[in-house]
Amino acid sequence: MKKLAIAALAAALMGGVAHADTIKVGVVGPFSGPFGLQGKNFKAGIDAYMALNGNTVGDDTIEIIYRDIPTADPAQSKALSQELVVKEGVQYLAGFYFTPDAMAATPLLEQANVPMVVMNAATSAIVTKSPYVVRTSFTTWQTSTPIAKVAFDGGTKKVISVVSDYGPGVDAEAAFKTGFEAAGGQVVEAIRIPLQTNDFSPIMQRIKDSGAEGVFAFLPSGPTTLGFVKAFNENGLKEGIKFFAPGDLTQESDLPALGDAALGLTTTFHYAVSHDSAENKTFVEAAAKAIGNPAELSFPAVGAYDGMHVIYKMIEATGGDQDAAKAVEAVKGLSWESPRGPVTIDAESRHITQNIYLREVAKADDGTYFNKEIQTFEKQGDPGLKAAK
Ligand code: PHB
Repeated sequence: MKKLAIAALAAALMGGVAHADTIKVGVVGPFSGPFGLQGKNFKAGIDAYMALNGNTVGDDTIEIIYRDIPTADPAQSKALSQELVVKEGVQYLAGFYFTPDAMAATPLLEQANVPMVVMNAATSAIVTKSPYVVRTSFTTWQTSTPIAKVAFDGGTKKVISVVSDYGPGVDAEAAFKTGFEAAGGQVVEAIRIPLQTNDFSPIMQRIKDSGAEGVFAFLPSGPTTLGFVKAFNENGLKEGIKFFAPGDLTQESDLPALGDAALGLTTTFHYAVSHDSAENKTFVEAAAKAIGNPAELSFPAVGAYDGMHVIYKMIEATGGDQDAAKAVEAVKGLSWESPRGPVTIDAESRHITQNIYLREVAKADDGTYFNKEIQTFEKQGDPGLKAAK
């Protein structure tokens, strides 16, 4: 009895006394290697958020600890996440560019009492793997569904789809096929290519030979997307085959290297660096300063910036205590004005509801290329969650 009473008293005292702490956030992403620019955008978004909002929440100081994972490597992601939790004592895990890396770390969360804020990985099912996953990026179901309607409404009836053969590619293929066939179109062939593919000429030949009027494509942004769009142009497909894709294929940081080859390509996506709003202006200024070269800015920066917003809200709600369930509960239904537009963390799925924009690559007066927003699909949830269950 006495022991119990003392324990209760100690707990009450600890809870009641404010104490300034350092709260560590572990961020896993590709900070070197071929996808290094994508990780650099995570860091730019995080730096921008902390530059604009400070590095403290209440009495607590926020410290970010980065771990580099150059390419999709689930075993390494699990090892790094475990090390962050056990050795570094992080209270939050965040980042995760590639789906397999996010998936591999989800089994750790409940036991470790740590929420995961996914800042990029885009396969619908990730949020179903643990109640402690919250996502501030997008899913390929969410970004690829509207382009199917755009393709059909624009007069294209036969499409060949080409996707990277892993989670977000398989989801993108299903999203496009579902939307396009519901509208009345036909996917005449569906090709899945290994993630490591870097010679796209044989694929371009298959697209030509398929008799399709258009191609739908998804590959993860990076050297992959640059190579694919370059090959599409260099193999002469731009003349004659219509191009449909989510915005990963025309990320802003690829546009200088693509040049006129990208002009006119239409994509649907949650974020364009050119988005016209006060929030985005503030964000782009801070993120450009953080990254150094503004031409390197791309969508992982906004996923990370909004991810930090969610983490700050979680820290606020828990008063800095390590309580993953309470932290996640506090952001269910949270709405705010993101640089991308109005967003909400859907209370049921813990995935972000957001506008998806139709954009076209255009050239500005100063000769730079940008994604010009031309149509808005408002408040899109994730249609893939039904498929993921
Ligand atoms: C993913 O692996 O989930 C992923 C990576 C890059 C993208 C989209 C999705 O551009």
